[in-house]
Amino acid sequence: MSELTKKHPIVRMFHVYKRYGAKNALADVSLDIDFNEWVFVTGPSGAGKSTLLKLMYRGETVSEGQILVDGSNLIRVPQGQVPMLRRKFGVIFQDFKLIQTKTAYENVALVLEVAGLKPQLVRKKAQNVLRQAGMEDKMNQYPPSLSGGEQQRVAVARAIVGDPKIILADEPTGSLDSRSAAIIMDLLKGYQSRGATIIIATHDKEILSRTNQRIIYLENGRVMDHGMRTDVERNE
Ligand SMILES: Nc1ncnc2c1ncn2[C@@H]1O[C@H](COP(=O)(O)OP(=O)(O)O)[C@@H](O)[C@H]1O
Ligand SMILES: [Mg+2]
Repeated sequence: MSELTKKHPIVRMFHVYKRYGAKNALADVSLDIDFNEWVFVTGPSGAGKSTLLKLMYRGETVSEGQILVDGSNLIRVPQGQVPMLRRKFGVIFQDFKLIQTKTAYENVALVLEVAGLKPQLVRKKAQNVLRQAGMEDKMNQYPPSLSGGEQQRVAVARAIVGDPKIILADEPTGSLDSRSAAIIMDLLKGYQSRGATIIIATHDKEILSRTNQRIIYLENGRVMDHGMRTDVERNE
């Protein structure tokens, strides 16, 4: 294989286990996700999808095995450096997790303020990404006055504004109407085209049925398939 066609993983898992008490939330998971890949993680409720994502940004730590993210071995990252590690990730949750007492704009700007960007640049970048998300007219509204789809668009804007290398999305379209879901997928596609890696845990059959990206299928904490759509059609 030539240098050009060689794959370059950004996330590597080696025999990863995650236990909660006696329960294996994940068991013997080994996988690679390439730089700039778009990959779906699916499987029944309780299969370990959320746990898989949490381990990647060290929201949880492994019970056994090793995870490399962009060359760092996560078990060797000191606690003090976890915030730096997390800047590699933009995370999107099904329930948005926006700060309710901050406006849409402030939720997005906060990421850049924490990263120490100059106020002028914060304003420019935050407004830009909210515009891309179609939230230009509503950026001064608080989350409770926005629809679920609008809140999720703000959450996606917040996830991408800091230019993270990896987007982790946990059921990002789970409770949204199909139009909002389509806007969100378009935002993520645009962001992938700028070089990012996109990892999405989803049950959304509509989305899975239309993709030709790789799908990792989990069941009882184990990887059952890495394949294209036809390999996972037995999913529910
Ligand atoms: N913090 C936790 N404490 C105890 N058990 C947990 C915890 N998080 C997840 N689990 C268990 O691990 C398994 C996988 O959970 P999860 O990753 O949330 O699955 P999924 O996202 O696929 O629905 C489930 O059996 C769940 O009950
Ligand atoms: Mg989950």
